[in-house]
Amino acid sequence: MITVIGSINMDLVVQMEVFPTQGETVLGSLFTTAPGGKGANQAVAAAHLGSQVKMLGAVGSDSFGVELRANLNKANIDTSLVMNTDGATGIANILLHESDNRIVVVPGANSKITPEVVAKAKDVIGKSQLVVMQLEIPVETIAYSLKLCKELQVPVLFNPAPAANFNINWMPYIDYLTPNETECALLFGDDVEAALEKYPNQLIVTLGDDGARYFDGEKHVHVKGYTTTAVDTTGAGDTFNGAFAHAITNGQSIEEAVSFANIAASLSVEKFGAQGGMPRLAEVIARKEGAK
Ligand code: RIB
Repeated sequence: MITVIGSINMDLVVQMEVFPTQGETVLGSLFTTAPGGKGANQAVAAAHLGSQVKMLGAVGSDSFGVELRANLNKANIDTSLVMNTDGATGIANILLHESDNRIVVVPGANSKITPEVVAKAKDVIGKSQLVVMQLEIPVETIAYSLKLCKELQVPVLFNPAPAANFNINWMPYIDYLTPNETECALLFGDDVEAALEKYPNQLIVTLGDDGARYFDGEKHVHVKGYTTTAVDTTGAGDTFNGAFAHAITNGQSIEEAVSFANIAASLSVEKFGAQGGMPRLAEVIARKEGAK
């Protein structure tokens, strides 16, 4: 069983022909809402592939909260640790242009996931094969959760996104850290190779459709990605993380899990919405067979 401790957002997506520059107003071509939040997205990605997933998070007292809980339930995710709180559910304002995006998150209920809330879930966390976290909930909760997982000897997959609040002192508490290239540079500086060598089999840098790389203790490993036609890249990183979590908890090696996650991410960008393209296991297997 995988436990995800993280955010649940409603994505408010506006599509446009061109991004506005500062002070400029442009006309958009489409507005839609879609379930999102890095925590929820990673939970759904793992659940779609067949993992048993528990979500620890929070929604607000608005209609988005009701909709997002129902969405998680529909994906077969256990939401008994998703709190109902007063006030607004988290939202992400997503500007979409071609397959590129710009996102502003307003945490809302996600900011109410306190260390005390996580402490109450100690038993569930202790029974988890893996805990998955990101950076859209309060940093004190993350720091507490990491220490709790260490105490309970539960491995942690940490996706440092958005990267700004990451604390390098957390590294000893993390089994797998999965920044993209931009996040990696922000956390460790421009020398990716040096960073990878410092954290063998722990730091996995995702490279978009070029796959991902890590250092296995002896050599650098670049697991090639799968190039496809992207409709919407929102949630591709989340799909990678959810799929990696699924694969690693099913006994795959890091290299196999990265390859599996690359394929899942490539499928996810072919459809609209963060969760819209998250694949089922059979689709990943079919693409893998086709790529041989
Ligand atoms: O990673 C994509 C996600 O980031 C979106 O679903 C949005 O909610 C933001 O959290």
